[in-house]
Amino acid sequence: MTGRTIALHVFASAKGGVGKSTLAIACAKLLSEEGRTCVLLDADFTGTSLADGLLLCAPLVASADGALDFYAPPTQRFLSREETIRLRMRRKDATLEEQFPAPPFLNDIFLHGDLKQECQIEALCWRHEDRDDRVLYLPSSPLGKDIGIALGWLFRDQAFTWLQRLTWLLEGMASQQAALTDVVIDLPPGLHGFAHEVLVLLSYISSGREMPTGFPAWHEQRDKLVWEARPFLITTPDRNDVILALEYYARHRKDLSELRVLLNRNVTTSIEQLRTDIRAYTEVEIGLDQVPLTVIGFLSPLSKVFQDRTLRLNPEVRALKKQLRVTEEG
Ligand SMILES: Nc1ncnc2c1ncn2[C@@H]1O[C@H](COP(=O)(O)OP(=O)(O)O)[C@@H](O)[C@H]1O
Ligand SMILES: [Mg+2]
Repeated sequence: MTGRTIALHVFASAKGGVGKSTLAIACAKLLSEEGRTCVLLDADFTGTSLADGLLLCAPLVASADGALDFYAPPTQRFLSREETIRLRMRRKDATLEEQFPAPPFLNDIFLHGDLKQECQIEALCWRHEDRDDRVLYLPSSPLGKDIGIALGWLFRDQAFTWLQRLTWLLEGMASQQAALTDVVIDLPPGLHGFAHEVLVLLSYISSGREMPTGFPAWHEQRDKLVWEARPFLITTPDRNDVILALEYYARHRKDLSELRVLLNRNVTTSIEQLRTDIRAYTEVEIGLDQVPLTVIGFLSPLSKVFQDRTLRLNPEVRALKKQLRVTEEG
């Protein structure tokens, strides 16, 4: 018996500003245009929130006192942009005693202890103002106090625990959303801490290995549900950035055979030149020719993604379907 499959598309990078969010959004939108049901988890808790980058509308989930109700079923109702912004302002001014004020952010779901229980994840998802956009979004919080809390989890020894929570979140989404086919994860910059742990999780998924105690028993349920790993490592043609990506790839390719390196925003750099440079300047264990490298050119309309905030699917973005593995290559 073959079960259901949910693909996990994960976007990681050594540095910030390389196009992780842009490509994660493009991937999610292309998937949903294919008729798939896709949730975009904005797990970059360093403050560059998709709630700032896109015209997102928060879901209606607050109880009467303005606190989040983690157990209410989805209302399918969303606030207007104005109401969303007003709520965000209110949250900014909320005191520490007011736990989890609306609107919901991915941070809240991670910090709320009860992921294994009945936390209604779909009810906490946001939608784009443009309702033709069918992606469900869980944005990270851009608020200073939330970032402060998140960084403790991301960069200290608690990364592992947050990874555990991510797996229970995915488990909840899979069981509550029968139609779910894809989860796209936009990671924080850096290939250490939480971001690295998520990539390690993908290596468990693709090998079907048993995960440690305290994680869902996905390896036993493969007749019902198979998670499919689609890890991407984004780099610009900047030589130093490429070197970091290659080094990471070289160290982890054995366990992460699905990993693809996306060379984004490539304007003029020839791969040949990069190859020569890298050979001349470093001792990375691997040559560019041994890496599954996909080149994404400089996309002028995409560069406006955080200005017009709609990221319409123009032909240039549509052309990324293969690179982003929305339709299988070959
Ligand atoms: N292929 C591309 N062509 C042109 N501009 C791009 C491309 N990819 C990303 N950008 C632009 O680069 C900037 C950083 O991208 P972003 O996705 O926010 O990076 P990250 O999430 O890695 O920090 C944004 O202004 C984005 O519009
Ligand atoms: Mg980003």
